[in-house]
Amino acid sequence: MAAGRKGSRTVQAAGSPVVLGPAALAALQAWTIAEARHVRHFILGDENTLRHCLPELQGHVPALREAHIMAVAPGERSKSVDVCHALWSHLAAEAADRQAVLIALGGGVVTDLAGFVAATYKRGIPVVNVPTSLLGMVDAAIGGKNGIDLDGIKNVVGTIRQPVGTYVHVPFLRTLGKRELMNGVAEMLKHGLVNDAKHWKAVCAAALHDLKALEPLVLRSAEIKAAIVDEDPQDADKRRLLNFGHTIGHAIEARSWESPQRGLLHGEAVAVGMVCEAWLSWRSELLAREALDEITVVVRERYRPHHLDPVDHHRILQLMANDKKNADDRFRFTLLEAIGRGRINVEVTAAQVSAALDHYRLLMRDGPKEAV
Ligand code: GLY
Repeated sequence: MAAGRKGSRTVQAAGSPVVLGPAALAALQAWTIAEARHVRHFILGDENTLRHCLPELQGHVPALREAHIMAVAPGERSKSVDVCHALWSHLAAEAADRQAVLIALGGGVVTDLAGFVAATYKRGIPVVNVPTSLLGMVDAAIGGKNGIDLDGIKNVVGTIRQPVGTYVHVPFLRTLGKRELMNGVAEMLKHGLVNDAKHWKAVCAAALHDLKALEPLVLRSAEIKAAIVDEDPQDADKRRLLNFGHTIGHAIEARSWESPQRGLLHGEAVAVGMVCEAWLSWRSELLAREALDEITVVVRERYRPHHLDPVDHHRILQLMANDKKNADDRFRFTLLEAIGRGRINVEVTAAQVSAALDHYRLLMRDGPKEAV
């Protein structure tokens, strides 16, 4: 880790600097002046981030006051080929050349979309990430995964390409509601579970409404994510640790959006996935019963139960089979050996996944005693 400008520090994620701390936006101003003064800047945000965060960004980074602004609708639907088309056309109409810099100001949807548009426009222009959501700060904006959705499958088209920098300014979180914050907290809990037992305890004990208390934990989570990416940028090995809770979680998220009610946020689905996958870790004799119970209690106290129907199992398994993380028709999970230690590439059968879903359903219906 390198000390950056006063009040910021920088960690590397596969050669891409992640600047953390109160002076992160001052560091972006310095970078813009030093490296990108004479190029055109395009800021991509959604209607919320452009209203609530753009004035603060431009206040701290005067070099971006003349930037060209591009807006998309908030929400996952913007991660589409049609929206990419509109953005590519817009850049071309503005005669953006290969030196132009695209600045993504938003949560995971905006950074995923901007990363993909920047990777493909004129065979690649630089992208800078300025995450505004907790999920973005600790996960989506770091590590270079970008992409859009196709035919209901998330992130099925995309690349891994590092941003030229990621600037994490925690005060943007002031604009978020509790549900949005909890969306990111799920990833912070995951970072503790797979990599750092002390961080798990700290996140469990944190007063989440207190941004001052939350800030060092956000920065620690961003640091854990960056360090894992740094070891394995292409997601061939260690980065798979970050998949804990996601193999089942992604499918539950996708399934929830197929129903007429509003679906689950990513972190809410990952919370369900973490309970199921912690249970699989215990059933596979990797994880102690006490650790499973601790994880279950923490998640149950923080996240509303999600209603799972037994008739959904088949569809959830089908969605898992489509997921890019699985190969050879077998499910490869990241499970836990202990709180603070994940294990990648554990093979799990469809029947075991179904049993884990049953476990979650009964746990939410009857409580922990009947769940075993
Ligand atoms: N969100 C998981 C990863 O970046 O690998």
